[in-house]
Amino acid sequence: MKLKFNQTNKLLKQKNKSKASSIWGGRFEGKPSEVMDQINPSIDFDKRFYKQDIRGSKAHAEMLSAQKIITQEDRDKIITGLNQVEKEIDQETFDFSRELEDIHMNIEARLAVLIGDTAGRLHTARSRNDQVATDFKLWIRDVIDALDEQLMFLQTALIDQAEAAASTVMPGFTHLQVAQPVTFGHHLLAYVEMFGRDRERLKDGRVRLNECPLGAAALAGTSFPIDRVMTAGILDFDRPTANSLDSVSDRDFALEFLSTASICSIHLSRFAEEVVNWTSSQFNFISLSDAFTTGSSIMPQKRNPDAAELVRGKTGRVIGALNSLLVMMKGLPLAFCKDMQEDKEPLFDAAETLQVCIAACTGMVLDMKANVSAMERASELGFSTATDLADWLVRVLNIPFRKAHHVTGAIVKLAEQQNCLLKELSIGDLQSVEPKITTEIYAILEPAKSIDSRKSFGGTAPCNVKEAVLAARQRFLKS
Ligand code: ARG
Repeated sequence: MKLKFNQTNKLLKQKNKSKASSIWGGRFEGKPSEVMDQINPSIDFDKRFYKQDIRGSKAHAEMLSAQKIITQEDRDKIITGLNQVEKEIDQETFDFSRELEDIHMNIEARLAVLIGDTAGRLHTARSRNDQVATDFKLWIRDVIDALDEQLMFLQTALIDQAEAAASTVMPGFTHLQVAQPVTFGHHLLAYVEMFGRDRERLKDGRVRLNECPLGAAALAGTSFPIDRVMTAGILDFDRPTANSLDSVSDRDFALEFLSTASICSIHLSRFAEEVVNWTSSQFNFISLSDAFTTGSSIMPQKRNPDAAELVRGKTGRVIGALNSLLVMMKGLPLAFCKDMQEDKEPLFDAAETLQVCIAACTGMVLDMKANVSAMERASELGFSTATDLADWLVRVLNIPFRKAHHVTGAIVKLAEQQNCLLKELSIGDLQSVEPKITTEIYAILEPAKSIDSRKSFGGTAPCNVKEAVLAARQRFLKS
């Protein structure tokens, strides 16, 4: 519910007609201000982890009964009830209440309607503080697994395109100025490495995240004889968290996830930026079909790379979410503080944004067509083989590299004056700068020769790219 400013003011003056909370109503006589209805509930967004909440509750009930803290009968009633609640939420027949604040209390209240007083036994030896930390970890863990798979698909698409373009020459840039010829396949494989590191970071964060907070209770642990190792095992955590205070106040896992997500977003954004450049008529290196472009309502000739621009633009949201959580957490004393409820909306948004951006990039990689002749033409420009020329002077004439660099600079200047390519200079012109140059030098001025020569490990030569494609499939893709 969105309120206009004057409506909000009115709310402050109004008396809330609702009763004191049924959860802590024991000592509360007064009613919350109406404005509390605006600021307090998290149900509008934390309903998203109902499955994790129910999974956690079932594990807790199993453990309570194994430890004879509740009877097996009660456990069965609770589990049957929770299954019913899950079905109702799945089928969208569940009535979420803002008065019940959050997903934990919404589910517990419904359970009480379904199974009566036994529902009240479920909250023995736990609190919403350890519950929410557990739910959030389970949710992020699921997202990490989904993202890993999505990034693998993106890598698959890039590797396939790289294989097809292993020998396709294009200009390589530094400072966005033509530097040296590279292969398009090599360029695409650079992104495979970047997304590979993102997957590593996700997996690494998942290992650290995988400790179970449930049973830490409010902050101090519990006097009930619970078995936290058992609960952790049922929920596929590696072990329980070691310190109850830390368990309920730790959000490192969310911060780590968001920093990984931010780095991954930056990679996606950089790729998107290349797509924007490459599809422009100035570059014309690739084309995208109607599937990932839009037209203009006024300029009939336009084909805009909207998907790529949006991937680039949405990066701000993911980085913003990381900032939001860092700032929210920075001054919090131990243990749980309600501020931490603000961890969810930015993270949910960041996770969804990242997922749609990876999907869009994968779609664009599958869709894009390399314009081989335009790339080849462009690789002739900008004196892209000047380094090859300098290297030839070093290799064949045994000139020290610094001097060779100087000689080559003078040759480039000559070509600039004549408005021609290096290979179009006459042998007389070349020898006017360095008399020992022979016609042999023309062979290395071709971009295709330049890329062939870059055979050092990790270099751009087509034979390297073909090997790198095979290696990338081994390293990153499931067989
Ligand atoms: N809705 C809360 C959150 O999202 C759950 C924990 C509330 N705990 C409490 N003691 N008020 O973080």
